[in-house]
Amino acid sequence: MSWLLIIGGNSEIGFAAAKRFASNGFNIHLASRNMEQLHLKKEIVEKSFNVKCKVSNLDVYDLASIKNFVDQSEINPKIILVTAGFLENPEKSYEKIIKINYLNLIEIIESLILKSVNKDILSSIIGVSSIAGEIGKKKNNIYSSSKAGFSNYLEGLRQRLYQENINVITIKPGYVKTKMIKNLSLPKILVSTPEKIGEIIYNSYKEKKAIVYAPYYWKLIMFIYKLVPELFFKHILKKNF
Ligand SMILES: NC(=O)c1ccc[n+]([C@@H]2O[C@H](COP(=O)([O-])OP(=O)(O)OC[C@H]3O[C@@H](n4cnc5c(N)ncnc54)[C@H](OP(=O)(O)O)[C@@H]3O)[C@@H](O)[C@H]2O)c1
Repeated sequence: MSWLLIIGGNSEIGFAAAKRFASNGFNIHLASRNMEQLHLKKEIVEKSFNVKCKVSNLDVYDLASIKNFVDQSEINPKIILVTAGFLENPEKSYEKIIKINYLNLIEIIESLILKSVNKDILSSIIGVSSIAGEIGKKKNNIYSSSKAGFSNYLEGLRQRLYQENINVITIKPGYVKTKMIKNLSLPKILVSTPEKIGEIIYNSYKEKKAIVYAPYYWKLIMFIYKLVPELFFKHILKKNF
């Protein structure tokens, strides 16, 4: 049976995707920091879906932890799903935001690709970026720029790995009801559930998609948003949107 590896396995979006893939027969490998939470998730996956679930300690912020994880990882995944992310309000830890959302994710993905060379097993790399990376914003300025970098990296990676039959998918969620945004007050109509995004991730894998707005209507919203002149955000819109 094939394995799905989730970098940031404690993420609510990641776990919703894990359940979706497990219900379709995938074994699941969850990697994250909080081992207690990971063991609870392992139990749920194994009991509910009758597949194997492995858990590993990985701190995306720490290069030594990344090296240790990659060196020790014995399973060759068919799919790598990257859902680790860090949002801070107000933003103070610039280096941490950039490393967890962008720089260190590259370190992990590149190391895992090197490790899987000639094994012919890896077929998809799915990165969860964000609509926040589409445009510079007053609010979450550093987070947005790190997501822009991550989306751009995934785009180039898609081209690099095309000849090797590895499909790279960029998922760009809008607002999703997870612990990451629990303190934000947002219009309910624009907030999706992690389960919905998990379903979109699974379908995007099956359909070998490239760039996916999640849900799809964010593509239209962002198209309109980009038509608004920057002057509007500087002078007229007082809210820190
Ligand atoms: N929620 C939204 O509205 C939204 C919108 C657009 C994009 N996204 C993106 O979707 C992805 C998943 O986020 P989510 O909404 O599912 O939120 P979440 O449940 O808070 O997931 C984020 C995960 O990143 C993990 N993480 C943070 N720092 C880490 C580190 N140093 N090492 C390892 N893991 C670390 C967290 O682990 P711990 O649980 O151990 O802290 C957490 O499980 C993120 O990349 C996020 O940027 C979310």
